[in-house]
Amino acid sequence: MNRFNDLADFSREEIGALLELAERLQQQPEPRALEGKVLSLLFLSPSLRTLASFQAAMGRLGGSSFVISPDMSIHGLETRPGIVMDGAAAEHIREAVPVIASYGDAMGIRAFAERRSLQDDLADREFENLASLVDVPLINMESAIQHPCQSLADWKTMDDLEVPAQNGRFVLSWAFHPRALPLAVPASTVQMAAMRGMDVVVLNPPGFDLPETIMDKARAAARVSGGSVTQTGDRREAMEGAHIIYAKSWSSTQYYGDRLADQAQREELLDWCVDDPWFENARADCRFMHCLPVRRGVVVTDRVLDGPRSIVLPEARNRMLAQMAVLHQMLQG
Ligand code: CP
Repeated sequence: MNRFNDLADFSREEIGALLELAERLQQQPEPRALEGKVLSLLFLSPSLRTLASFQAAMGRLGGSSFVISPDMSIHGLETRPGIVMDGAAAEHIREAVPVIASYGDAMGIRAFAERRSLQDDLADREFENLASLVDVPLINMESAIQHPCQSLADWKTMDDLEVPAQNGRFVLSWAFHPRALPLAVPASTVQMAAMRGMDVVVLNPPGFDLPETIMDKARAAARVSGGSVTQTGDRREAMEGAHIIYAKSWSSTQYYGDRLADQAQREELLDWCVDDPWFENARADCRFMHCLPVRRGVVVTDRVLDGPRSIVLPEARNRMLAQMAVLHQMLQG
């Protein structure tokens, strides 16, 4: 494997092999598998889980890693192309990225969406520009439109808990958040659940429909897997018989890139906070998922997040195990 960027680049069988490897590495640790290998990690956006779980994953496989981020004492980084660098930034990403890549055997990059142009973000323009500067195997640690490591861990979490794939009802619900957030997690999540063969329902208020390119891609995956992908604004209809509700906020797609219009639109949506009544007509064992970090009392109430439905902590732990499988296949294969 030379690039881990999008679950859609892999067949269901290939994802299955990665999940089996993650399970094997959990049951039968291989503390020398990546001895001598180095992973470089470039974080252009903040992180807790991704940062810690990649370093832990390399450590558990006998390799090592190093982290570079703008808030370390590095030179100020310029990302804009064709700029005269007479301001604060002393180093351009065009040199910094290949230099960092040259110190490792593989590289991970996190670069969130710029959220100026929906078309640019759907094309993952910024990440692809950075990726073009890397000549070692590359892992997307979250970009404008992808979060494949999160989705692989989420797939594993549902397998671990024997959540049905075929005929399993998966509700991806928009949730309130005071700020406009990227489309990466919702886009990757809908793709993952569709590839897994689930009946996926995207639940969102008006103005927050996922872009058709994301929905069409997921529908194509569902046709292969035997699942389905639909959208509704009706919470009761969405939650009917649900096995999973996966909460996530994302930017207004009606006013993408327009901060003030997005803000005005979401101000009316404070009641999109997952709470017990949401589960009235779901399955009794319906689980709550979220990629974290999550704002308590905003995205979800304490009683749901701290209650028996919540599987957010196993999801977070599975980040490490899923990434161990990716790194093992990438660096030992
Ligand atoms: N879920 C996730 O990617 O968490 P971090 O932003 O903390 O890495």
